[in-house]
Amino acid sequence: MANDASDIKDAGLAFLRARSISQEDELLNRIYHFKGKKGAEHLFRVTSGLESMVVGEFEILGQVRDALETAEKTGMVNLPLRLLFNSAIGTGRRVRAETGISRNALSVSSVAVDFACSILGNLADCRMLVLGTGQAGKLVARIASERGIKDITIASRTWERSSLLADTLNGRPISMENLPSELHRADIVITCAGAPHWLLDREIVRQSRQNKSGSPLVIIDIALPRNVEPGVASLPDVYLYNIDDLNRVTNENRTQRELEIRHAEEIIHSEIEELAIRWQQFEARPTVIVLMSRADQIRRDQLSRTLKKLPRLTDDQVASLDAMTRSIVTKILKEPVQYLKASENSDRIELVRDIFKLDGEDHP
Ligand SMILES: NC(=O)c1ccc[n+]([C@@H]2O[C@H](COP(=O)([O-])OP(=O)(O)OC[C@H]3O[C@@H](n4cnc5c(N)ncnc54)[C@H](OP(=O)(O)O)[C@@H]3O)[C@@H](O)[C@H]2O)c1
Repeated sequence: MANDASDIKDAGLAFLRARSISQEDELLNRIYHFKGKKGAEHLFRVTSGLESMVVGEFEILGQVRDALETAEKTGMVNLPLRLLFNSAIGTGRRVRAETGISRNALSVSSVAVDFACSILGNLADCRMLVLGTGQAGKLVARIASERGIKDITIASRTWERSSLLADTLNGRPISMENLPSELHRADIVITCAGAPHWLLDREIVRQSRQNKSGSPLVIIDIALPRNVEPGVASLPDVYLYNIDDLNRVTNENRTQRELEIRHAEEIIHSEIEELAIRWQQFEARPTVIVLMSRADQIRRDQLSRTLKKLPRLTDDQVASLDAMTRSIVTKILKEPVQYLKASENSDRIELVRDIFKLDGEDHP
């Protein structure tokens, strides 16, 4: 893990490259990074649904929580990262509880299904093919069923998943190999598989359209990277839309939620301030511990020397001296400790370590 903010982008790239997750160019286009408060603010906006295409949608909060859990399981989360992500998740929940940003919240999946409705009109007699059985696919299929589509086919590379989802909707599971033949009977296709390459290219769709002249096929590709080759759009009677085309609908959603967005931003601002205070305390913690234990060591050494010089004292007298010296040390260090925990001065830790000569010492 990178410690220096300037290394973070390179470290992220190296991590993904080592796993061959994507092409180099593609990776560079998709990676962005922010530093310090700006980075925290971005993450808080993400969990609050302000960076989502559909403002206030719920899915993103679960996705960030899942990402944190996965990273925890693989031992990739340290204490500051945990603090940051837990605060971000808490902020996302608070924003949804205290603002109306998620009232009647849409999701990209619901926007996609409704977009298909707006193009084709009555969906009751339509045959829909859903490609992908992850979070997005499940939502698409469920919403399509709620909107009255009776003939739903679910395609997945994992048969178990497609049949499980199809069962809940009275739909039909198919495997990916049958995709070309199944395309022939579909009126609407919504693609949302996490594949790094096209699953539907122009040739597959062209072949499936034989003898289909005059009957439209609407394909809505909400996957990123895209599941459908853009050239498919030039086939006769084929209407291809992608996630960017859904922006019109989501922009209306954003306008309606403008007031709530401002309220959410106020909450994010206050949560960031809160996090900054906790962060300062967190950063100062090792130095506070070393300072306190160094002072306590001096106190105990001095007390022990003094006790050796005195006539034998009773246990109560020794306890009184111990308490008195402990209280002197705590009172003397009260101001430096408060300064360490509360000051925004970024050099404060170095200053205190320098004054008390703490370098080279670390808390146990
Ligand atoms: N979740 C959302 O709210 C949302 C919103 C808008 C757009 N999207 C887009 O929808 C896509 C899926 O997102 P998700 O959240 O549903 O992900 P997910 O829960 O991780 O599910 C991924 C799905 O894609 C399938 N898949 C992965 N690699 C594949 C491959 N090489 N070939 C065929 N199928 C493959 C998986 O199949 P297996 O089950 O066999 O692994 C699974 O069904 C992504 O492109 C995402 O950007 C998601």
